Amino acid sequence: MPFNHNDHYHPLLLDLLPPGPGIALDVGCGTGRFARRLAATGMAVEAVDVSAAMVEAAAGLGSPGPGEIVYRRADVTTDTLPEAHYDYISCLASLHHMPFGTVAKLRRALVPGGVLVVLGLARPSTPADWALALAAVPVNALARLVVYAGERLNGGPDEGPKAPIADDYPTLAELRRESARLLPGSTVRPLLFWRTLITYREQGDG
Ligand SMILES: C[S@@+](CC[C@H](N)C(=O)[O-])C[C@H]1O[C@@H](n2cnc3c(N)ncnc32)[C@H](O)[C@@H]1O
Repeated sequence: MPFNHNDHYHPLLLDLLPPGPGIALDVGCGTGRFARRLAATGMAVEAVDVSAAMVEAAAGLGSPGPGEIVYRRADVTTDTLPEAHYDYISCLASLHHMPFGTVAKLRRALVPGGVLVVLGLARPSTPADWALALAAVPVNALARLVVYAGERLNGGPDEGPKAPIADDYPTLAELRRESARLLPGSTVRPLLFWRTLITYREQGDG
């Protein structure tokens, strides 16, 4: 796709990194584009994906450093994660492939002060949600045109293996309700380009 809606939000997600280099977990890393950006900040990154093809492709692309990236094939819903270990956990377009309750496990894996970010897809629920979703249509068309023109000028798109996609998403109302239940104090922010950002900071009080 000429304009990647998930990649567009990488800078926003990097703004939410806690201070200091620390340890990051990228859940459903795909070909590792965000894992590499985390490593570029100096974080030590563990990047996991249930797809062997994705892990192989990501590992083949190496790491820009200075942080090290360890790629691992794992199903996060069944994998054992260390408790109170990660400073930052990211899920980019991956959580809707899993039961939402997986966030409880991710929450336990955060150190106190650690941050969980979930960039996801959700169906609009309120009139305001619908208005934002509709507003994205012309902006998206323009952004695609600009990116397409840039790619043509630079010799064509950068093709890589395609990550598995899921076409069943929760509604924003469901996300708001479940986030309040499982991630108390979290924020749920609808974004342009049909994405939603959940941000949670672990307080360490259980
Ligand atoms: C739409 S892709 C997104 C990839 C990447 N995060 C990105 O932004 O390009 C979703 C990824 O989640 C992975 N995934 C799905 N279920 C998973 C699970 N249970 N554990 C780990 N990874 C999973 C898929 O294999 C796929 O690579």
